[in-house]
Amino acid sequence: PQAHPHDLLGRPLHDLRLSLIEACNFRCPYCMPADRIPDDHGLDAAGRLDFDQIETLVRAFVRLGVRKLRLTGGEPLLRKRLPQLVARLAAIEGLDDIALTTNGVLLATHARALREAGLRRVTVSLDALDPAMFHAMSGGRGEVGQVLAGIGAAREAGFDVIKLNCVVQRDVNDDQVLPLVERFRGTGIVPRFIEYMDVGTCNDWRRERVVPSAELRDRIHARWPLRALDPHYLGEVASRYAFEDGDGEIGFVSSVSAPFCGDCHRARVSADGHLYTCLFAAEGHDLRPALADGEDALAEAAAAIWRHRGDRYSELRGSRNAPKKHVEMYLIGG
Ligand code: GTP
Ligand code: 5AD
Ligand code: SF4
Ligand code: SF4
Repeated sequence: PQAHPHDLLGRPLHDLRLSLIEACNFRCPYCMPADRIPDDHGLDAAGRLDFDQIETLVRAFVRLGVRKLRLTGGEPLLRKRLPQLVARLAAIEGLDDIALTTNGVLLATHARALREAGLRRVTVSLDALDPAMFHAMSGGRGEVGQVLAGIGAAREAGFDVIKLNCVVQRDVNDDQVLPLVERFRGTGIVPRFIEYMDVGTCNDWRRERVVPSAELRDRIHARWPLRALDPHYLGEVASRYAFEDGDGEIGFVSSVSAPFCGDCHRARVSADGHLYTCLFAAEGHDLRPALADGEDALAEAAAAIWRHRGDRYSELRGSRNAPKKHVEMYLIGG
């Protein structure tokens, strides 16, 4: 058995976030603005790891300590035969949890097959309920009704956990927060509000656009009283709150106002097989040469990279030492 690597800051490797495709059917202005990313953006299929390579890669990471896998994109539901891949990954011994992050437009079509293939958890991005605002925030590509239908289909398919991700920008969609809470209270679906981050190179991020989670929490608490919940696990990204009246829970992801790099045990791999040791890393490490030599070689190569990891971008944000160049969000799925 392989030793589980720790990085330079003593952090183990627990989660793998794997992008299956770099293409997306949305053009969210903060991620893939339509005027900068052409319609046909993406690799040809040959540029992506195939299912055999993906399975080998995940097995190697499980040997290094990974217990949790999140499938991302771009938009992962654009990847052909995804349920077949999920079934193969669900069969890997030692992997406790597989989740998927999607924009939800194709979820109504695929929810049942994915659930039957062994997927247990989905997270759907939903930045607005207002139809016009939603349409604008998808870059003119999506309708909120499609996403709500996708969420409904996921419920019917019997997913154990359904979460929503709402990226909040001040004076853009912060008026959607209370309506989102109201709509999903009591449904078992967990909305999470995410501080707008300076990821990638396409969004002209400004700190004034960030709504600190504490402010949102106070706004929600004034209407529906909240109490803090304990994290599910060490280093949980979202801080959790329950409604005092028992009508479910919500979460906040506060990587700007309260960075959580200290317990960050997440590795990210792009669809073309590059390992990124931080969401804000400039460069990835090409895993394909090691992958061509098989699971043992890959496990060794990935462990060596992890042992040299010192990333803590959110803690350095704004300081002189903070790296300036960042990988695009749509290549590593957030
Ligand atoms: P579970 O706890 O497994 O449900 O998932 P999660 O909350 O970690 O995953 P999800 O992908 O839904 O993350 C929610 C938001 O947090 C996304 O917008 C991510 O971009 C952001 N996020 C996730 N991991 C990190 C991280 O390591 N660093 C930073 N800065 N943001 C992260
Ligand atoms: N800041 C915070 N979250 C972001 N996401 C995409 N771009 C940003 C950003 N600039 C979120 C998406 C999705 C998840 C994968 O990452 O909305 O929910
Ligand atoms: Fe696509 Fe998600 Fe990026 Fe929006 S945030 S463009 S849905 S990958
Ligand atoms: Fe991890 Fe980088 Fe996010 Fe910090 S900024 S929590 S190191 S991915």
